[in-house]
Amino acid sequence: MDVKKPPPRNAEPGRVDKPRGALTVYITLIAAVAALGGLLFGFDTGVIAGAMLFIVPDFSLGPAQQGLVVSAVTFGALFGALAGGTSSDKMGRRRTNIVAGVSFIAGSLLSATAPNVGVLVASRVIIGLGIGLTSVAAPMYIAELAPARNRGKLVSLFQLAITAGILVSYLVDRALVPEHAWRWMLGLAIIPGALLVIGMIAMPESPRWLLKTGAEKAARQALSLVRSPDEIDAEVREIHDDLEHNQPAGWVELLMPGLRPALLVGVGLALLQQVTGINTIIYYAPQIFQRAGLDSAATALAATIGIGVINVMSTLIAIWLVDRIGRKPLLLAGLVGMTGSLAALGVALRFGSTIGVNPDWIPPMTVGFIGLYIVCFAFSLGPVVWLMISEIFPNRARARAAAISTAANWTANFLVSLSFPVLQVMLGPSIWFLYAAMGAAAFVFIIGYVPETKGKSLEEISCQWRTEPVRIVEPH
Ligand code: BGC
Repeated sequence: MDVKKPPPRNAEPGRVDKPRGALTVYITLIAAVAALGGLLFGFDTGVIAGAMLFIVPDFSLGPAQQGLVVSAVTFGALFGALAGGTSSDKMGRRRTNIVAGVSFIAGSLLSATAPNVGVLVASRVIIGLGIGLTSVAAPMYIAELAPARNRGKLVSLFQLAITAGILVSYLVDRALVPEHAWRWMLGLAIIPGALLVIGMIAMPESPRWLLKTGAEKAARQALSLVRSPDEIDAEVREIHDDLEHNQPAGWVELLMPGLRPALLVGVGLALLQQVTGINTIIYYAPQIFQRAGLDSAATALAATIGIGVINVMSTLIAIWLVDRIGRKPLLLAGLVGMTGSLAALGVALRFGSTIGVNPDWIPPMTVGFIGLYIVCFAFSLGPVVWLMISEIFPNRARARAAAISTAANWTANFLVSLSFPVLQVMLGPSIWFLYAAMGAAAFVFIIGYVPETKGKSLEEISCQWRTEPVRIVEPH
């Protein structure tokens, strides 16, 4: 029998309510548009490897200039992340994402037409600024619009886009190598940059930011696009309540006891995502494979593209599970796999001949262990760190605390990728034990400090951090 549902309690006469399916489609579209920033993040960090093959001879670059061109993006991203905190508070999340898109367009245009190395470095810093802005503003924007029940999945689209961007950059590099077309490699980012700007202009602002600025009507309007009518009042009340009881936090207050535990988790996760070595593989995979015995550059490149595909596919595991089993189980399971595969890689490369491993097996074992490591990163530290940075901080401090955590992530990224070649010479294959030890430390940190946030509203999560007032017991 077809039972008609009663209208929601607070239904206005004459209003046509959108079915939940349509709301889900719209919030997914919003998340996908914001995630274009992730696509650019991945593309612009990945594309430089192939482009450098031709930039170096074209501009006759020495080693120091090469380092500048490659690391300029990371440098810009660090400052972009810090600026992203203030601008997300002052201009809003949506406009910060638009500014990021404009930086991508301007930087890509400039790098594709750079007449000399100075302009090229400057253009890469501008792109880096865009990456920094988007890595703060995009996950936060998605998290603030998403319903609690599928926030994990929606914010993880940002990581999916990063991995897709990295893969596309490998493919573009490969396709354009025969033409020596480095200007096209760098310039192609204009297309997703323009899509990000146009897309974000059409999207609503974060209702949490709107309520913070007192724009309740606009906040309700934004919520009405992504929530059923019976959910809106309760959510507005919850956000109001949170904002009334908590004054906006300045930079210094982030270090005070009330906010410090959350900041410790955000910064800790951000650092651990990098010091467990992901970008040694993302940035140096072909070299690692060649060292392990995949002699031809073509085979090493093919293996690298394979890594890119595995990275994208395994992120889907997180999208599937993060709202079902939660953030912590994914982080812990991923770390077990990452640490185990790094240790196994170290043993194979360092002690393989001593323990009688057939030398012919070393190259496929290297590819296998690195593949397993990527699978485990992609369903755990990859998406879950960006997700948790976007959700663990209270409304009053979210943008600034996310900016500090993200800046920590970019600093560690810079240091790890800079030190890898030197450490590899100093430590040889034992370097993998170093990253494995970091994985073990990350495991302990997560068990001890990281809260579970699955299914909770952002306001419920911020309550978790509130310490009970100390009760002073009078002596008798
Ligand atoms: C990290 C990047 C890394 C990428 C690899 C992201 O979550 O922040 O540093 O290159 O994952 O997929």
